[in-house]
Amino acid sequence: MTSPRAARLWGGRFGAETAAVIERLNNSLSFDARLWREDIEGSIAHARMLGASGIIPGDEAEKIVEGLQGVLAGLESGSQSLDPSAEDIHTAVEALLRDRVGPVAGKLHTARSRNDQVATDLRLYLRRAIAAIQGAIADLQAALIERADGEMGVVMPGYTHLQHAQPVLLSHHLLAYFWMLQRDRERLRDGLARVDVLPLGSGALAGTTFSIDRDAVASELGFAGVSENSLDAVSDRDFVLEFLADAAILMVHCSRLGEELVLWSSQEFGFVRLDDAVTTGSSIMPQKKNPDGAELARGKAGRVIGSLMALLTVMKGLPLAYNKDMQEDKEGLFDAVETVLLVLPALSLMIRTAAFDGNAMCRSMQGDFSTATDLADALVRSGMPFREAHAVVGRLVRACLDRGIGLEDLTPTEIAAIAPETAVLDWVDLSVSASVAARATHGGTALDAVASQLARAREVLKR
Ligand code: ARG
Repeated sequence: MTSPRAARLWGGRFGAETAAVIERLNNSLSFDARLWREDIEGSIAHARMLGASGIIPGDEAEKIVEGLQGVLAGLESGSQSLDPSAEDIHTAVEALLRDRVGPVAGKLHTARSRNDQVATDLRLYLRRAIAAIQGAIADLQAALIERADGEMGVVMPGYTHLQHAQPVLLSHHLLAYFWMLQRDRERLRDGLARVDVLPLGSGALAGTTFSIDRDAVASELGFAGVSENSLDAVSDRDFVLEFLADAAILMVHCSRLGEELVLWSSQEFGFVRLDDAVTTGSSIMPQKKNPDGAELARGKAGRVIGSLMALLTVMKGLPLAYNKDMQEDKEGLFDAVETVLLVLPALSLMIRTAAFDGNAMCRSMQGDFSTATDLADALVRSGMPFREAHAVVGRLVRACLDRGIGLEDLTPTEIAAIAPETAVLDWVDLSVSASVAARATHGGTALDAVASQLARAREVLKR
């Protein structure tokens, strides 16, 4: 089975048609069509430079640039579309240019290869994608700040091993995600420095015989600099891998937040009621309200992590320089960008519309021994070594469990009877609010500490 040669940029040395199955295997337009804007922008800068450097006549360069601007406008308005039979986006754009300006379109590819072209397109795409993602992260951070501010003073159980550990402020818990997301935003910003390098001018792999002006192209496209090694520039995708790693870590954070919402909205926890707008129903059980959005924030982390693993695996055995394997960089990248840009605003909405139930949080802490550390700390303050205090309080906990009461139900006399070592103690407030208030150090969960944390979070978000 063969198919007639669709629009393509090669063919002179071929006697037979490409087999249809190979054409299907080779074709990338179905996904790299997303790069149309970047491909045209890169070509406009390249054509201008070819004209300005005298590599092609100035009037022809102008004609090409105007043609490309026409293609850009045509695609933007939808009055024009890409030929679906084209091999890839580069071929499809050049075909549209040829329709507009005729054979002079053939001069655009002077001193250029699809290898440096696609690397350029991808970097232009990623620059935009990173900016959009940073905006979406910042919005989720803003949502967390709003809710942390509004819920100041609400105490909830803090967990380790998913067992009640020590009381914390709900605001403190919410702000934990603020800082994770802050590092995600910083990681993306740091990675941008390595994306922001122009590969165009590297040719297929060895550079070009024309005296091109790479700096002019870089400055027109807003790149911070040009690549130093043509082999490296056309054949590495570490900037994609780095982005995918950043996106995977970001999705792990989204996934954990999603998991908290799933847990907290369950009957067992009852800490939050998710809004009708962010939940879905069951086709059979009329009473159900399912946290599908939160579950998908968790579930979709899998595909982004998968895309990182996939591209690492694609790249690990490739000799220099360009290999067609590298075409496999795109679907995972596009999917990661689109997934992140879907999940982040969904989480923002879930957080903004969540109805937290402070009473349920409070009830869940009755008799949970989550202030046992506070009692041990009080014993330490009266001179007892911490290890000893730990053992004494452990004994008190056991006695309470036997009697079916909580630590806070013990009177000082009872405490002294069970553990005479505690006789040195004055009365200790074992309420959850006293426990929270006592953790007043920088980064702790006391009201004032969280208030200044909130102020710093606001400050960081404004930067
Ligand atoms: N579609 C290709 C890719 O994404 C473009 C580069 C093709 N280069 C080549 N020599 N065939 O990698």
